[in-house]
Amino acid sequence: MRITIICENTVGRLVGLGEHGFSALIETDQENYLFDTGRGRSVVKNSLELSKDLRSIKKIFLSHGHYDHTGGLPEVLKLKGRVDVHAHPHVFLDRVHVIKENEKETKRFVGLPFKRSYLESLGANFILNKDFIEIEKGIFLTGEVPRKTPFEKPDPVLFSEIDGKTEQDTFSDDQSLILNTEKGHILVLGCAHSGMINIINYVIHKTGKDKFYAILGGTHLDFLTPEQLDESIKVLKKMKIEKIGVCHCTGMRAAFRLHQEFGDRFFYGHVGSTLEI
Ligand SMILES: [Fe+2]
Ligand SMILES: [Fe+2]
Repeated sequence: MRITIICENTVGRLVGLGEHGFSALIETDQENYLFDTGRGRSVVKNSLELSKDLRSIKKIFLSHGHYDHTGGLPEVLKLKGRVDVHAHPHVFLDRVHVIKENEKETKRFVGLPFKRSYLESLGANFILNKDFIEIEKGIFLTGEVPRKTPFEKPDPVLFSEIDGKTEQDTFSDDQSLILNTEKGHILVLGCAHSGMINIINYVIHKTGKDKFYAILGGTHLDFLTPEQLDESIKVLKKMKIEKIGVCHCTGMRAAFRLHQEFGDRFFYGHVGSTLEI
């Protein structure tokens, strides 16, 4: 099995374009899968530069409805044609990012930037799930993750719009991917809006196994409270995690802390980074 980061904020090799977003290609002996699609400017370009054929994917998994994970869908669909796209029903919610600076409020749309019908016309076959499910043998999606830890709080600048009402975004659609391997789970996170520790605990609860070969993807650890970062690191250090390859919305300060704490077990998931097992 090989996992390759196709879209990410930074480029670590001589190939690819960086963009604020995330996408990872999972290649197994049987099939290939795409987890998220980046923002849209780099997914096809980077796949070609990395000699990955997106026409080979069997399914697309969406971690949540933010533009930086779903914006590349049309580009991928134009290449691939009809394909199953697994997501939570709330993936289509309107999302906004609101910041107040010097009394001035700036609102930016950050949801899935395309209509469902347009994506379907390009070949997307949406399969909507809220629950923890086994997609194929040894491949699971978490569905909605229960919020349990007291220190993992919602991002205060992110909102969703339901029936014309703007509310704090609870990201019920946030889901992660689990690949079962003989060395332990590989957990692929989109933005971990449900809380990285909540997600890990839920995976342990649902699978009955607490050994992680690797945790990859966006963790959102640098955007919330310092308490969340400290508490999350404390918990992570007690867990059985062999490799930790964060990127995207982790933020550099949190990534540096994780590097300090995890040493050689840490790697940064730039565009083109691979994990093989
Ligand atoms: Fe993101
Ligand atoms: Fe996000």
